[in-house]
Order: sequence, then structure tokens, then C-alpha cells
Amino acid sequence: MSSRKDTAKTASASTRRQFSLPVEEIPRKWYNILADLPEPLPPPMDPEEGESRLSALPEMLIGECLKQEMSTERWIDVPEDLISLYAQAGRPRPLFRALSLERHLKTPARLYYKGEFYSPTGSHKVNTALAQAYYAKEAGFERLTTETGAGQWGTALAYAATLVGLRCTVYWVRAVSKWKQSRMNFMRLMGAEVFPSPSDKTETGRKLFEKNPDHPGSLGIAISEGLEDAKRDKKAIYSLGSVLNHVLLHQTIIGLETQKQFEMAGEYPDLVISCLGGGSNFGGFALPFLGDALTKGKKTRFIAAQSQVAPNLQGEYRYDFADHGELTPLLKMYTLGHRVDMEPIKGDGLRYHGCSPILSYLRSKGYIDTVAYPQDEKHVFERARTFILTEGFLPAPESAYSIACAIDEAVKCKETGEEKVIAFNISGHGFMDMEGYSEVLGL
Ligand SMILES: Cc1ncc(COP(=O)(O)O)c(C=O)c1O
Repeated sequence: MSSRKDTAKTASASTRRQFSLPVEEIPRKWYNILADLPEPLPPPMDPEEGESRLSALPEMLIGECLKQEMSTERWIDVPEDLISLYAQAGRPRPLFRALSLERHLKTPARLYYKGEFYSPTGSHKVNTALAQAYYAKEAGFERLTTETGAGQWGTALAYAATLVGLRCTVYWVRAVSKWKQSRMNFMRLMGAEVFPSPSDKTETGRKLFEKNPDHPGSLGIAISEGLEDAKRDKKAIYSLGSVLNHVLLHQTIIGLETQKQFEMAGEYPDLVISCLGGGSNFGGFALPFLGDALTKGKKTRFIAAQSQVAPNLQGEYRYDFADHGELTPLLKMYTLGHRVDMEPIKGDGLRYHGCSPILSYLRSKGYIDTVAYPQDEKHVFERARTFILTEGFLPAPESAYSIACAIDEAVKCKETGEEKVIAFNISGHGFMDMEGYSEVLGL
């Protein structure tokens, strides 16, 4: 924790609200934490019965992404054309000091949030969508298939596909697709075809759809649908928006920028907080700081904000499938079970049964704490309301969980008098999620 002496900065530094990097400072390399783990990450495995999923991996994933998935190189180059796409998407993104929120809370903590919400499609998902679309195009594919929960990943991939000249098919968890009509239209405007999932387009989907055409769906089901679709079309390849090592790798661009911005602020976070579904946003933000904890002995605390409907980090640490239809290899992760039923919520991007293998491993070693908020989401949305009224920005429902956790910690600091530096990531904006706010807050 920073001492009072450390914090006696110049008046201008202590009231500075924004820390921005020029376009030349877009990170040129992604950070691969696999190089810094104290032991190799438990690898994916085949189940005891059935066909080998491992040998099907080269047909399941984009070649370059599969290479990155296995790589233990510490730094992996971002291709020059991709840097240009990142610039087109508005990177680097600012880091803000939440001065108005701090004053409102009367907390001695200093709160900083990363503005991933300044994304053309609304979230951090663009960071890996552009990378995956770029590599898929390079490999000669013509179409991408995928799942989406909140709709943010589907929109990000539709956008990235359009920019590089690919088609895109999205299987969207039905419970969410029903109330986010403007996001549906946004994806379609960008040329994607979108099917509520479970759909009648795939075997996995049909089995569930025929029993219940109103089935709410889940990310695990939508992943199976995307995989099945790509498997029957040689010109298509599947693209996953979270969980896997290469997805977190691409997202480290968030934390790498944030580290430079903390240097500008003359601070280092005591607490790093973000929401966690499959782990791409939490990982992207936290992994560079977790690398410091592993290699430099930094004592930062990491907290993943989750929902009580899907507290996957409180599940069992064991091998499980990443999808409902059991098409993927088994991954060693904290899981609630790949066929568990979970009630829909407004922050539905957090409703996934398992957590990324990298983050699961780090949790098993005691590096990551978790907090799970109640299903009614009232506390989370009230905290988001406080943020909106002070900082003036509308977060995505998922990002509201990061905010709730950061404010809860800042309130604790008020009670103890600790001057902690709290960093949190606002992974997306909520401009297409107003119905969620209206319903939970009774607007
Ligand atoms: C804005 C936003 N933040 C966070 C998440 C959680 O996913 P992940 O854990 O992969 O970041 C989602 C998922 O859809 C999302 O849309």
C-alpha cells in the first residue's frame, strides 16, 4: 500500500483525471504469462471415451491462434496490420482517475478505471476479435462462426469480420437475444447472420430446441453450435471470445497499456478488480500485473467480480468440457459442470460454467480472490447508478460488477482509513442494455 509520503504529489498530479497514451504507444507485443508460471499449465486432455478432441483441434481453431495457445514465449509480436486495426478501433484507451466518485464516497482510496468502453462495438472483445479475424483471413477462410452471451462478443466479431472482409455467423444465447433488439440489429447491420441459441441449425441446438423452443440457452450450448457449424463448412472457422490462452493473450493489450498509464500517474495498484465470465476481460486487465506478482514479488490483490448464478471460481478445480455438446477437449479449470443450469441475469456475459485455465491455475495457487453478487443484481446496479451519477458514464451490466466490487472495496477503505490504490476495468458500455437497468432499478 502506498504511504502518505508517496502520495504527497504535486497538486496537478493528484487532481489529474485522465492518463492517455499516444497512438505510437499501442503495445507491439502481447504478454504471455505462461513463460512466468512456476510450472507448466495443465494441458488440454482427451476424455476417456469417444473421438479424440485434441487431434481435431487444428480443424477447430485458427492455426496461428492454436500456435499461440501452446506458446511459452514471454512476448508475442502483434502484426503491423493489426496494430493499424487497433488504431482504427481507437486504441490506446484512457485510464481515468475517478475523482468525483472518490469525493462522493469520501474514501481515502484512490480509484482508477480503464476505459475499454470506448470501443466501436461497446467492449474489450474487439481486441481479440480483430486478431482472430486477421489471422483467419490470412489463413484463407471466408467465414467465422461463434457464440455470444451478452452480445458484445458477437458484435465485436461481426465488426472485425467486416473490416478484414469475412462473413460472420453468430449463435446468440436466446434469453439475451430477446431483450437486446438494438444489439441484434447492430450485428446484422455489420453483415452478420445471427441465430438465437439453441437454434434448429445444428444437432446440439435442435435436440434442445425441439424439446423447448423457448429454451433460454447458455454460452456452453452456443459454443457447441458455432463449432458444429464451422465443422461442416471447409471455408469456415470457429472463433471463441473468451476462456482460451490465446484470447487472454490478445487481451493483455489492456493491462500493458494500463501499466504504462500507472507509471504516468506515479502509482501502482494495491488492488486489481474486474468482472469475470470466462476470463478474457479479467485476464487482459490483470495478467500483466499478475506477471509482476509472480516475477517481481508485487503484493497486489486481485479480485474477480462474479454473479451467484455462475460463481465458477467457487466451483471445483478439475478437467471439464468447455461446451455443452462435449465437442471441445477437456480443460483443467474451475467449473460448475458443463451442463449445469444457470438462471439468466442482466449481466449475462458472466453466466458461463468455467473459468479460463490460466486464471484457474493462478486461483489454485492463491493469487486470485473472488466475490459473487446476488442474482437479483440490485446491489450491482445501485453501485453502477452511483458511478453513472458521479463519473457520468453508462457501463455494460457485466462491467457494473467491476464497479460494485471497486466501490465496496473503497467503502471498506473509508472504514479502515487505508489509502489503497484501486484499479478496475470498465469492459464495456451499456448503451444497448437500458432495458436491463430499467428492469433491475425500476426506472
Ligand atoms: C462487457 C463485458 N464484460 C465482461 C464480459 C465477461 O466475459 P469475459 O470474462 O470473457 O471477459 C462480457 C461477456 O460477454 C462482456 O460483454
